[in-house]
Amino acid sequence: MDGEFVSRERDRMLAELGEFLAIPSISTLSDHAADCQRAADWVSDELRRLGFPVVEQLDRGGHPIVWAESPPVPGKPTVLIYGHYDVQPPDPLDEWKSPPFEATVRDGKLFARGAVDDKGQVYCLLKAYEAVRDGDGLPPLNIRFIIEGEEEFGGHSIERLLQEEPERTEADAILVCDTSYYAPGIPAVYTALRGICYTEIEVRTAQRDLHSGNYGGAAPNAMETLCRILGDLKGRDGRINIPGLYEAVEPPTEAEFASWQELPFDMDDFLTEEITARSLAGQEDRSVFERLWALPTFEIHGIMGGFTGEGAKTVIPARATAKVSLRLVPNQRWKTALGQLEEAVRAVAPDYADIEVRPIHGADPVQVDVTQPAFAVLDQAFTEVVGRGPVAIRSGGSIPVVASLGLRGAPVLLTGVGLPDDGLHSPNEKLDLQQLWDGVAIFGRFFELFADQPV
Ligand code: BES
Ligand code: ZN
Repeated sequence: MDGEFVSRERDRMLAELGEFLAIPSISTLSDHAADCQRAADWVSDELRRLGFPVVEQLDRGGHPIVWAESPPVPGKPTVLIYGHYDVQPPDPLDEWKSPPFEATVRDGKLFARGAVDDKGQVYCLLKAYEAVRDGDGLPPLNIRFIIEGEEEFGGHSIERLLQEEPERTEADAILVCDTSYYAPGIPAVYTALRGICYTEIEVRTAQRDLHSGNYGGAAPNAMETLCRILGDLKGRDGRINIPGLYEAVEPPTEAEFASWQELPFDMDDFLTEEITARSLAGQEDRSVFERLWALPTFEIHGIMGGFTGEGAKTVIPARATAKVSLRLVPNQRWKTALGQLEEAVRAVAPDYADIEVRPIHGADPVQVDVTQPAFAVLDQAFTEVVGRGPVAIRSGGSIPVVASLGLRGAPVLLTGVGLPDDGLHSPNEKLDLQQLWDGVAIFGRFFELFADQPV
């Protein structure tokens, strides 16, 4: 690997990544479909610049999936790299210290929507590839990229693609850099991701909104009804009141619990630096790691309806909608959980209310066995660059396609160069530049070391 690469190319890399981050490729907003296409084009152009002879955009009804194959290196292993070019919406906009789609460096950190999740990490892998090419532009092994644009929206197109063409996941290792270190200086490799079941719950109690003086006291209120239903679904003790939901939950093994006990953890730091709250929520009889990684959640993301504008309006809303998701843990299935949620909503809803539970997206949880040889190679690459190998932990987040990536048996290496305080999905999302530069070296070394693995 070119040891001078990072120090020599730093400014150019910052400029290139800045271009990528300037594209507001927000996959969940239909107004931004053209931006998702532009981000796919940006990735495709970059892959062509890097000399990939095969660069395609695959259309499965949504945002394009970028597929690329490096020049073939016969007899060498193949690494498939997965990432996503789409981002979450940037709001609340007034909380950003610099505009979300104008990458800005402050204090050694790059601030922008997508800086770490996941454009910065996709970029990191592109540059790791660039850094290990030889004088003829050839890599030490076979690399494929699959970069989608719907990860933040459930990953429907890539799911369809892999169902139709599962052979695309035939590789000696699959590298997914869409997560973070456990803590500064402590890289991580993930043994599980939570699944998700994201829904919209609509309550209708009348044909139209009503005067709250004329009818208040006698007419049902859709917003109140919705709030009561939502309140009924989770107890103050943090347990979710959805019959059957916990039945499939597979508790971590004693060994896994024991390994979590070894992790350094400072509750005060966690509260002030990460959660930014005065105290925790959830089941008090469960550890923080268990709450984050091994138990399902019930989360209300937003409630719409009624009057929320300036001033006052005395109205009884006839309709109210909530965005609600469940995170799911190993052995749960999102379609089962969806059915259980629907049942539970109907069971607590009053007769006068018409209820609809609409699924928006879903993903099953995944577990990864991290004992295959590829993980030892990853460990070595991290150790050479940052002085220690990754800890094996779980993630509370989800990456929908991962359940399908591993179906052909390739080990799926879930790792990343983010830091816990990067603020993914929050205002002022950032990537520490040192993490990016280290990442180029780490994954460059990984490619070189993995090239020597038997195929
Ligand atoms: N990069 C995250 C996944 C992640 C989050 C990994 C936290 C590790 C820790 C990913 O891009 C993401 O946010 N996924 C969504 C998926 C969902 C919208 C289907 C998520 O988890 O909310
Ligand atoms: Zn994300």
